[in-house]
Amino acid sequence: MSKTALIFGVTGQDGSYLTEHLLGLGYHVIGVRRRTSVPNTGRVDHLAGEPLFKLVCGDVTDAASVSHVVWQAWQDAYMEWRRSLQIRPSEGPRLEVYNLAAQSHVKASFDEPLHTTQATYLGCLNVLEAIRRLDVRQEHVRFYQASSSEMFGAAFDTRARVIEECSEGAIHWKSMSLTERERYQDESTPFLPCSPYAIAKLAAHHAVRLYRDAYGLFACSGILHNHESERRGEEFVTRKITKYVARWARDKSIEPLRLGNLNASRDWGHAEDYVRAMHLMLQQEKGDDFVICTGETHTVREFLLAAFKAAGSEAENVESLPVVIDSSLYRPSEVPYLRGDCSKAKRVLGWKPEVPFEELVRRMVYSDMRATDRG
Ligand code: NAP
Ligand code: GDD
Repeated sequence: MSKTALIFGVTGQDGSYLTEHLLGLGYHVIGVRRRTSVPNTGRVDHLAGEPLFKLVCGDVTDAASVSHVVWQAWQDAYMEWRRSLQIRPSEGPRLEVYNLAAQSHVKASFDEPLHTTQATYLGCLNVLEAIRRLDVRQEHVRFYQASSSEMFGAAFDTRARVIEECSEGAIHWKSMSLTERERYQDESTPFLPCSPYAIAKLAAHHAVRLYRDAYGLFACSGILHNHESERRGEEFVTRKITKYVARWARDKSIEPLRLGNLNASRDWGHAEDYVRAMHLMLQQEKGDDFVICTGETHTVREFLLAAFKAAGSEAENVESLPVVIDSSLYRPSEVPYLRGDCSKAKRVLGWKPEVPFEELVRRMVYSDMRATDRG
């Protein structure tokens, strides 16, 4: 079958990996980038010469631009299908729409709650509406929404207990008295969002479900736990750490690294693994929601130690590292503990993560070291 993909958020970490994955599968890929005063295509510039890849301009907060881009992509998918008919019979045109666009930084969402809501919730709604108004049968147009484990927030309201135990001293999240049900988040875990970003993502998540139930759209939400990579944005904690560690490995006299809460625990995987899951969700018989994760959790403190270790440090605790805690980097409200259960994705999609925690950290540190050496 001839397939065309439209990716909102193509210039982001996941957008770039997803583009590479789909091109590898023979898709025609149309990436939507927003207009910016300086270039924002660094993560996809290496794909510029690919004959099956093109970039178009659009902004998810602008309903008119979204509906134009979606309509044009559907025309492209249809024409592509017509052309492919001369070579092989096909069931019909197929357009897969991936909405990865968002204001994706949780702390920034406290400073820009309205902008975050517009990009992260209304952006999704604009894409859903544009697809609904195409008025084509659901097997022809399929939709993926980038939902987030941040939506779980303080699921089961573990937050109060975590903060209490933490303030008493060196009790780590993993030793908390979580019940078996609280230990992992899966598709049935309640949502208790703790940031404007999470609330916007949850609104979008419910909109996807509504459009699936009310209008019969083929729509999926991937509830992805944190995933990082060599292409991770530099203001997220993992990349901030690996970039610092790479510089420190070359010059031990640099200013210390300033960080916020080291006790938060995250289920960190590699983005390259996670984009495979996005694609698999749209190949099923019906739209559904899936948690995507590794099933392991590590504190920021553990990530920090692992990153320094990858650069040759033998430090066993953070106190002996060049790190200072900066209270201005704490969030007004924090998600203390994330650890997913992706049994459903394993069973239904046949998906599993390939990159373990230590390898993820090493890959990020080594990549930043190479970049540091290049200057
Ligand atoms: P990212 O690197 O921050 O990429 C976000 C993308 O959205 C960028 O391409 C950005 O464009 C684009 N964008 C922002 N506002 C836009 C607008 N108004 N119109 C059009 N495009 C816009 O995020 P990521 O890590 O790749 O994550 C992809 C998606 O998954 C996001 O929705 C994120 O919230 C969600 N998610 C991420 C994780 C994770 O751990 N990475 C986990 C769960 C869910 P610019 O390049 O111009 O800024
Ligand atoms: N960014 C950042 N910077 N975080 C810090 C810092 C710091 O200096 N110091 C400590 N942290 C802590 C944060 O308080 C948080 O608990 C943890 O490190 C991870 O922060 P981020 O890397 O910013 O990621 P996030 O978990 O808030 O959000 C990411 O994952 C979500 C999925 O759970 C983002 O990718 C979201 O877009 C995504 O939805």
